[in-house]
Amino acid sequence: MDLFEYQARDIFEKHGVPVLGGVVATTPEEARAGAEELMGGTGSSVVVVKAQVKIGGRGKAGGVKLARSPEEAAQKAEEILGMDIKGHTVHRVMIAAGAQIAEEYYFSVLLDRANRNYLAMCSVEGGVEIEELAVERPEALARVAVDPAVGIDAAKAAEIVEAAGFAADVKDKVAAAIQQLWTVFSEEDATLVEVNPLVKTEQGDIIALDGKVTLDANADFRHPDHAELEDSATTDPLEAKAKEHDLNYVKLDGEVGIIGNGAGLVMSTLDVVAYAGEAHGGVKPANFLDIGGGANAQVMAAGLDVILHDDQVKSVFVNVFGGITACDEVAKGIVGALEILGDEASKPLVVRLDGNNVEKGRAILTEANHPLVTLAETMDGGAETAAAKAAATA
Ligand SMILES: Nc1ncnc2c1ncn2[C@@H]1O[C@H](COP(=O)(O)OP(=O)(O)OP(=O)(O)O)[C@@H](O)[C@H]1O
Ligand SMILES: [Mg+2]
Repeated sequence: MDLFEYQARDIFEKHGVPVLGGVVATTPEEARAGAEELMGGTGSSVVVVKAQVKIGGRGKAGGVKLARSPEEAAQKAEEILGMDIKGHTVHRVMIAAGAQIAEEYYFSVLLDRANRNYLAMCSVEGGVEIEELAVERPEALARVAVDPAVGIDAAKAAEIVEAAGFAADVKDKVAAAIQQLWTVFSEEDATLVEVNPLVKTEQGDIIALDGKVTLDANADFRHPDHAELEDSATTDPLEAKAKEHDLNYVKLDGEVGIIGNGAGLVMSTLDVVAYAGEAHGGVKPANFLDIGGGANAQVMAAGLDVILHDDQVKSVFVNVFGGITACDEVAKGIVGALEILGDEASKPLVVRLDGNNVEKGRAILTEANHPLVTLAETMDGGAETAAAKAAATA
């Protein structure tokens, strides 16, 4: 789960990373009040109104603006709220205390899957041009491997700061901030902590002015407090429902609902459906839904329930390879699911079964003879039938 900047700021603060005050606002009026609070409390004469969207490059898109009074903060918030930044609508802004920036640096630590390790990246040339820097002058971005068993201790922080080429007067403070950011990374079970910019102020302080944090959902059980960081306002209701049933579901744009077992099979099903759909006016997969290993009636019902409630879905392709879960169990699951759903099941269902106990599975579906169900012999054939049915009802 990616966090908003204001949530990252709060987590940074909790772990002792130096940050400035920040207040979230959803209306210009709240922005005015937030600015008043910051200007009164910290005595800062400038605040920054920042779009809260989970995408980089907000500054360049006009989503980060200075304001010198509460009135101006309200006005800037008015401009930024509702703005579209790379497809993300701005529903909230953060009013942040203004920093007097002397220098902008970059720091991140992330899970390096390719090397089965953690990787820290750091540069004395941070700011909104960091992507260009990484491409044009990669040597200006220090990359230091971090041993998961050791983490970023004082020695590793010193190594990172040295590699990035920090001046002597800031080395120690930056190294301290980096160790605190490591605490955020490890204690919150993050897969990414990025600060751009990490700044040196005119006063010589080191402060994290922006934060990007991705939390590892696999560790949610260790962090009951992370549940409230979920952005319920923008979570798709069907995705929320799928999550309730522990289903791996991703909504896509097309018309053919897909249910499969195993991520690999589901991904290749997306491909064959998209390919078959080309001959039917460009019909495409409507979603990715992996029901995993235990495809019993309840799991199948939950999966179908999610997919059939997507108005865009015109037909459904169930593509299951019986392994540990035998095809007759899956077939019973489908029949049971259709019973549970009753009249709510209203779209054609194409089912392709193969593998363990396939004959028994097909026999069960043939026996049930449900008017919505068509059996397919092959994966390509099933994709073709499902695409044709979707095109026919579209
Ligand atoms: N609190 C602040 N005080 C003063 N200047 C700020 C503040 N926050 C941000 N800025 C300035 O605005 C720039 C862009 O801000 P920020 O990094 O938060 O947005 P961004 O566009 O999302 O960046 P990124 O390129 O990392 O996605 C910063 O590099 C900094 O110069
Ligand atoms: Mg930034």
